[in-house]
Amino acid sequence: MQVAIDGPASAGKSTVAKIIAQKLSFIYIDTGAMYRACTLIARDTHLDYGDEPGILQALDSNEITFRTVAGQQDIFIGSKNVSQEIRLPEISANVSQVSALAGVRQKMVNLQRKMAGQVSVVMDGRDIGTTVLPHAEVKIFLVASAHSRAKRRFLDLQQRGIKSDKTVEQIEQDIAERDYKDSHREVSPLKKAADAVEIDTTNMTISQVVEEILAEIKKSQKKL
Ligand code: DC
Repeated sequence: MQVAIDGPASAGKSTVAKIIAQKLSFIYIDTGAMYRACTLIARDTHLDYGDEPGILQALDSNEITFRTVAGQQDIFIGSKNVSQEIRLPEISANVSQVSALAGVRQKMVNLQRKMAGQVSVVMDGRDIGTTVLPHAEVKIFLVASAHSRAKRRFLDLQQRGIKSDKTVEQIEQDIAERDYKDSHREVSPLKKAADAVEIDTTNMTISQVVEEILAEIKKSQKKL
């Protein structure tokens, strides 16, 4: 079974995807973390964020993997756990540019399909239902107002202990800019798949969203 969860930044995708994967014993794959890792590789290799050939070469010698650490899915570049570093504001500010590179996307999509392989997965991102797993049995498109997403991101950064001088309003502006870039890029833009179920999480609790998605999964299991 493949469950695809797409939507704009901070709509709650990863929070609900993790809970659903745990409840159903599916593998959770955070594809945003993979593009963030690519951005970190570019930074640490001192490459321009638009240098596609350079970044592709750097990706060849820096393997991106997920490993379970203390019950959590962490992301590694080679043997280094970069789960915290990929959330730094500097990476958030440049990930849209790196993730718009066609070659980088092709590489990541191949890797994501391989990871999904023969296991049941909950995968979240921007193009999962449209491009990565177009035959996913369940497709969800999560949306929420930009203001509520900014508030969530602000709390998330605080909880992760990541220092940032930004106010909620500044984060809201950053999110709006990233949404615009993610939705208007040429390759695989953020877009709701025709057969996806849209859920507006603005006024919903996490457990309400989880319940709604679980109900969709049940519905599709009945059909199988
Ligand atoms: O979900 P996130 O904020 O961690 O994602 C980081 C960036 O990666 C986001 O700006 C868009 C990009 N992304 C993408 O282009 N395709 C995906 N499947 C997932 C994320």
